[in-house]
Amino acid sequence: MCSIIGYSGNGEVAPILVDGLQRMEYRGYDSVGIATLNNGKLLIRKGIGKVAEVNASLALKEMPGLLGIGHTRWATHGGVTDLNAHPHSACSANVAVVHNGVIENYHELRDCLLKDGHVFKSQTDSEVIAHLLEHYWALKNDIREAMIHTCNRLLGSFAFVAIFEDSTLCGARYDEPLIIGIKPDGYFISSDVLGFLDYTDRAIFLDNRDIVMLERNNISLINFDGDIVNRTPTQVAWELGCADKGRYTHFTLKEIYEQSQTIFTSIHQTKPNLETFCNILAKAEDVFITGSGTSYHSALLAKHILSRYSKIRVESIMSSEFQYSSELLDKNSVLIAISQSGETADVLQSVKSAKEKGARVLSIVNVSTSSLARLSDCFLEVKCGPEIGVAATKSFTSQLSIIYYIADRVGDNLTGISTERRELSNAIEKTLQLETKIAEIAAHVKDVKDIYILGRSIHFPICLEGALKIKELAYIHAEGMAAGELKHGPLALIDTNSLVIILNPFDSTYVDTLSNANVIKSRGAKLIGISNKQDPIYDYCISIPYVKESLLPLVEVIPLQMLAYHLALYNNADPDYPRNLAKSVTVK
Ligand code: G6P
Repeated sequence: MCSIIGYSGNGEVAPILVDGLQRMEYRGYDSVGIATLNNGKLLIRKGIGKVAEVNASLALKEMPGLLGIGHTRWATHGGVTDLNAHPHSACSANVAVVHNGVIENYHELRDCLLKDGHVFKSQTDSEVIAHLLEHYWALKNDIREAMIHTCNRLLGSFAFVAIFEDSTLCGARYDEPLIIGIKPDGYFISSDVLGFLDYTDRAIFLDNRDIVMLERNNISLINFDGDIVNRTPTQVAWELGCADKGRYTHFTLKEIYEQSQTIFTSIHQTKPNLETFCNILAKAEDVFITGSGTSYHSALLAKHILSRYSKIRVESIMSSEFQYSSELLDKNSVLIAISQSGETADVLQSVKSAKEKGARVLSIVNVSTSSLARLSDCFLEVKCGPEIGVAATKSFTSQLSIIYYIADRVGDNLTGISTERRELSNAIEKTLQLETKIAEIAAHVKDVKDIYILGRSIHFPICLEGALKIKELAYIHAEGMAAGELKHGPLALIDTNSLVIILNPFDSTYVDTLSNANVIKSRGAKLIGISNKQDPIYDYCISIPYVKESLLPLVEVIPLQMLAYHLALYNNADPDYPRNLAKSVTVK
């Protein structure tokens, strides 16, 4: 999603903003812009491309001034053009804004402003904020009042930072994160702690309907009613800022390899927290589990694991659909929300729907300072470290290992995540060593147009996840399917041009899945088998090591992540920054 940042302090602002934006670029990245205040005049430079590209062409870092705002855009309203890039200024150019979110009533607001003679330069919803601020500021010459009136006119979700020609910097949030970074000699206002972690770990997480005003470096917090609010500063973990690629060419590859560690770090939860989580879960009459994208695939697997190993009946519903099923919840229900970022709008909406029904909310989240963590009755931290690659890899397996751990605590320790730790660790190490072989297979199949991934039972969510990785990273159409469903329709698609990947480990699903593989083979498709038992039916066999059946998903997803990564390289796609996608999707 869009990243926003503002800074007021000592020192030239432009390099600070550019570096902050670069840190947050993984959130969204189709255009970039900066506004600085120099000698009482607002300067704006913006253009399409990544931060480094726009900085090189427009010399962003050389813009003079001590006060400024910046933005990386992930387009929602209006095409990817220079004019639609942020910051947006108003008519008189005495105020400029950067915005993250969606202003749902922007048509109506724009029409009113047009009637008042305002002239718009972009097709974005965000520009109305600048014009509203200009309008209200002109009315009473009071920026505080202008902020309050503007915020109260906006419907939808928003976090914005505004810079005024009189040296005031302001921010406001509603349903989008906004965080103040506190330095001894200055303040940041940012959508993500990564925007300022190089400079300070002291932060204030603003609540919904909060407005921050920085007037000549004096800070004050009010709400949309104009009342003063107090928020306590917290300390943010420095490790979040330590993300670098190390010896790897891409963050995504590094994060795939990190799984040999991260799967195990995630299970170190503080005892009281884990007990609270498991007690709430064990007492629930109904349990629902939700997530988006990869986190939804974790939710699907959680349904199997929790029902099989702790006899908890769980309904998994994808977050974007959850609000339409929330009538099923009441005060005896529990919703488990899974999210790497803790900021996905669909997930937060599910949590709100559940809370409105009086249900309790548990969450599994990687960013412990996120909105989701703060909205939950209890949360468990995924602890896999910052995940920068847009496509989720290590956060997925860490979410899964927490789910196994919960299943063991609530049930009778049957999943093997603790008892078979050494075997699992060896299996993951050996699977990571398959990269060269997987890269070779990718070279052979790189030109296929459609890939089907089939498996049964606990392997089915992994098929969905593998297909998602291939779509996200390599831009190849891929579909995950329950292997038994193929004959009920999709078999019509199979011919000699098809590539089918079969998750066929030697477990209770082996025989039936192998027979599905035979049916496909007889239609001439190419087959890749991922299994701990070789079979000549496969054109390519990726041999994974033996682990206990319940733990196989943690191992078999790795070859799929690697295949997607290498297909991306063959297709000249940047695996860390897939086109059109954002790491943290904060719009519905
Ligand atoms: C976006 C990302 C996906 C991710 C999903 C959920 O769509 O591109 O990779 O799985 O959001 O993110 P979350 O942070 O809630 O796990």
